[in-house]
Amino acid sequence: MNILILGGGGREHALAWAILQNPKCDRLIVAPGNAGIAELAECAALDIEDGGAVAVFAEENAVDFVVIGPEAPLAAGVADRLAAAGILCFGPSQAAAALESSKAFTKAICDACGAPTAAYGHFTDADAARTYVRAQGAPIVVKADGLAAGKGVIVAGTVEEALAAIDEMFGGSFGGAGAEVVIEEFMEGEEASFFVLCDGETVLPIGTAQDHKRVGDGDTGPNTGGMGAYSPAPVMTDAVCTRALDEIVKPTIAEMARRGTPYRGVLYAGLMIKDGVPRLVEYNVRFGDPECQVLMMRLGGQVLDLLLACAEGRLAEARVNWADDHAMTVVMAARGYPGAYEKGSAIRGLDGLPEDSAHMVFHAGTARRDGQVVATGGRVLNVTARGASLAEARQRAYGMVDRIDWPEGFFRRDIGWRAL
Ligand code: AMP
Ligand code: GLY
Repeated sequence: MNILILGGGGREHALAWAILQNPKCDRLIVAPGNAGIAELAECAALDIEDGGAVAVFAEENAVDFVVIGPEAPLAAGVADRLAAAGILCFGPSQAAAALESSKAFTKAICDACGAPTAAYGHFTDADAARTYVRAQGAPIVVKADGLAAGKGVIVAGTVEEALAAIDEMFGGSFGGAGAEVVIEEFMEGEEASFFVLCDGETVLPIGTAQDHKRVGDGDTGPNTGGMGAYSPAPVMTDAVCTRALDEIVKPTIAEMARRGTPYRGVLYAGLMIKDGVPRLVEYNVRFGDPECQVLMMRLGGQVLDLLLACAEGRLAEARVNWADDHAMTVVMAARGYPGAYEKGSAIRGLDGLPEDSAHMVFHAGTARRDGQVVATGGRVLNVTARGASLAEARQRAYGMVDRIDWPEGFFRRDIGWRAL
């Protein structure tokens, strides 16, 4: 079959790499792709948030299946547009994508289905938000309601910080995303990510992971989109997974179906676990980036069968073949990230690296210029490895990192510390 993946980051490189291992895939196109993706698939320039353009492109190229990587096209309704054109698609409808595009919506769903999450208030007015913060005290968490590219959450250690965050959000720093604000109880515990596929009814767990959001070693410095990840997450024991499924994920899926907006796609539950009890931090309606890279490393080619079963409503008959393995990805970023950084520096040493079922460098933000791979983003490479243990995966990943010659880049040395 002919497959189109929408997106151009490390997540989509990992999806492409895994999907290509499945003999059902005849032709693979990725839009827009990047320099790493271009080595294994066709890349196409396409406005991936324009559902009409994606549908026309899919028809012209006889695409049988579209896999939507990032949240923006999902929130823009690209899956709905493809469904209307009769094109099979992996990814939720615009209405179901509200589980990520509106934090207030997710809180309302949790209220309706009884899923444990932080206590909260929802505000459209700065004065009411300030009064709430003064009454609750700190620490407290202030969140812009809408999509803010991972920057709309302020974990405030003091009331003053929370008030400043409220001013910033209602002052328009987050554009439309901050027109409404959710203010939450600060939850203590250990964070982990739980990934399930849903076809509207059936829920199939496909793995757990943990990432490192802070830019610096020892989990210090500003938040990023993720500086590394590993799978599985030791804190996600069978008992915790069962509770997360029964108390959070399945009630959510049932509530979405009850409302006439069934959830189809991958649901990424960000959880806070304390004393073996998971509570929901947030949902994302797509694979995590860089969590996807470690999941794909572990799942390999079977992922295409799983995504197809999900899109076709056949998850009840699908099975995941688990190996007792571990994967780790180390993000290499441009110096300055998550603040201002330079683009265009050359990356050398990639050609000599191993590429096999245990070693892969996924490209997150690269392009090829004059025959050379250059950095074009903040997070640039995801150096990913698999092993029989997490220690082995780590040794392999850092072994590759150390052979990459990119003086303008940096990375964390301690990915996985919590689990090792
Ligand atoms: P989110 O975008 O909702 O995942 O928030 C980003 C990060 O902020 C999360 O990964 C957590 O580390 C932190 N966070 C969000 N909400 C809370 C909360 N209620 N309590 C503690 N930490 C939180
Ligand atoms: N790594 C976090 C995310 O994809 O949202």
